[in-house]
Amino acid sequence: MPNASPNRLPPCAVSEIAQDIRLCQVDIEALVKDWFGDLEIGDLRRPAGDLSFIAALRDWLAPGEWEAVQGFKALKRQVEWLAGRLAVKTLVTACLDARLAPGAITVAYEAHGAPYLPLFPDHCLSITHAGRWAAAALSLDPARAVGIDIERRRIPTNPAFLQLLLSDREQTALDGSDALALVRTWTLKEAYLKYIRQGFHRSLRQVAFLDGRLLEGGRPAPVRWNASVLDSDHLLAVVDGPHPSRGAAIQNPVG
Ligand SMILES: CC(C)(COP(=O)(O)OP(=O)(O)OC[C@H]1O[C@@H](n2cnc3c(N)ncnc32)[C@H](O)[C@@H]1OP(=O)(O)O)[C@@H](O)C(=O)NCCC(=O)NCCS
Repeated sequence: MPNASPNRLPPCAVSEIAQDIRLCQVDIEALVKDWFGDLEIGDLRRPAGDLSFIAALRDWLAPGEWEAVQGFKALKRQVEWLAGRLAVKTLVTACLDARLAPGAITVAYEAHGAPYLPLFPDHCLSITHAGRWAAAALSLDPARAVGIDIERRRIPTNPAFLQLLLSDREQTALDGSDALALVRTWTLKEAYLKYIRQGFHRSLRQVAFLDGRLLEGGRPAPVRWNASVLDSDHLLAVVDGPHPSRGAAIQNPVG
């Protein structure tokens, strides 16, 4: 359904999830209802569509973003990506500059895929989408970085997958039947890989979550972490700490 007020973003709540870290979480299910009326979130598994009928999008997307969204192959990816952008633009207008038109707020990517705000390159940004939720987190303190990840709670538990996901020590420590502990470990590790701006350019097995601490190369990382249950099917992990590419942040992060 078109947004009645040009240049206005659909309302999304911004919350303080840690000191100097703000989060905006978008309910994709609600967006889908708004935009497509009769579609359910499960119906998004179909080829991408022409979304120009959603007039409000043109109000808050930058021209390049419009092209990007029309270029995706799957409707699910289009909607997830838009929900992520909505979260980013909401955060920027709520936390950094309320005068900016949403269409002026863009996201660019570092060499390994980490997102950043060209208008505010000093403020670390992280984006995630999974299932019903998309979210973005922003660090208000340029000296600190943040990484977030949402995962569905139902994850595969076959040995080959766990071998990819967990370090040897984690495999020993984790009880394979504790699905929540498993998904919490995975989600925190992905949030950590985003915090260090590497994503899957660094192996999940190099990072470990053991005894309540995140380790990289076997050494404790100087970060705070939080994992919260969003609903019966989703977990959100937030990792923040000194900005990894700003000076003294992480001593010898590579193990
Ligand atoms: C980011 C990543 C660790 C996890 O992603 P995921 O759990 O599948 O998906 P999420 O929705 O939680 O995260 C996707 C977001 O991560 C962000 N991201 C991608 N690479 C990142 C990186 N190196 N550091 C921090 N954030 C990153 C992006 O903003 C992306 O959202 P966007 O495309 O809407 O901007 C992983 O997809 C990745 O590293 N991708 C880049 C490398 C790659 O494509 N490898 C492919 C072979 S494995």
